[in-house]
Amino acid sequence: MSESATHVSSGKVREIYALDDDRLLLVASDRISTFDVVLPTEIPDKGRVLTGLSGFWFAQTASIVPNHLLALGADGRSTECRRLEMLPIECVVRGYLAGSGWKDYGTTGEVCGHRLPPGLVESDRLPEPIFTPATKAQTGHDENIDRAAAVALVGEERYDQAERLTLELYRFASERARERGIILADTKLEFGVDREGRLVLADEAFTPDSSRFWPADAYEPGGAQPSFDKQFVRDYCESLGWDKTYPGPELPVDVVDGTRGRYVDAFERLTGIEFADYLARPDVVLG
Ligand SMILES: Nc1ncnc2c1ncn2[C@@H]1O[C@H](COP(=O)(O)OP(=O)(O)OP(=O)(O)O)[C@@H](O)[C@H]1O
Ligand SMILES: [Mg+2]
Repeated sequence: MSESATHVSSGKVREIYALDDDRLLLVASDRISTFDVVLPTEIPDKGRVLTGLSGFWFAQTASIVPNHLLALGADGRSTECRRLEMLPIECVVRGYLAGSGWKDYGTTGEVCGHRLPPGLVESDRLPEPIFTPATKAQTGHDENIDRAAAVALVGEERYDQAERLTLELYRFASERARERGIILADTKLEFGVDREGRLVLADEAFTPDSSRFWPADAYEPGGAQPSFDKQFVRDYCESLGWDKTYPGPELPVDVVDGTRGRYVDAFERLTGIEFADYLARPDVVLG
């Protein structure tokens, strides 16, 4: 990696460095957050799982949309990427009714301006996937917005382009995941604009941090689904009666190991690649 990388910022999960005017280095840490609180205990290799999965999906979807990936680091957790002007919206797509989508539907019968059929239950499959953008909150939780509010932020042409690409990427990834026994219930993508004005897929793609993955064999609408990865940590935290504010609880070793196992399992099931092979040679996910 570059000798002259300068630290630009820290997210909840990633450290961001500038390599030069055109390139960034995103380094995914092993930090884990539940209920928007970063816990004091890390999950070994979690950052590598996120980086490897994103690299895999960037390679798989390159014919649908260009992406920011330039190279994966030999450490398995860093991504050299093109530096973009990020759109100020999160591009969320939902194929199933969960989380804030389920909550909004319960109060208004709509999600981000999409009127849905009456009588749907929690975790139901939607008649068709819907694009439900959200603001990128600097602090606190992201807020779901409708088409008009999103168009006000990015313009109509970009909005339509982002919607079309997000739906197409979701269709592609959810079909692939389904073949491997995983329901991709919803996901969040981020796009940026390059110097030529082209829309480019950036950030991370179809990871357990940006998506709801449900084991297909346990799918049962009418309630919350066990998530593939973080459920284990959430259940442990809830069993303590923790109030979900900082500081979060330390995790015991069995919870750390169980969570690591689930992240690695998600990686292997989705990519069909052994995680050990990824660690030995990160480029294997690029095909
Ligand atoms: N190619 C890119 N060019 C410019 N910025 C990017 C690019 N790819 C990703 N980013 C930005 O880098 C950041 C990634 O860091 P991280 O995921 O840890 O933080 P976050 O998602 O913003 O916030 P948090 O995870 O703390 O809620 C995001 O702000 C994302 O928009
Ligand atoms: Mg992020």
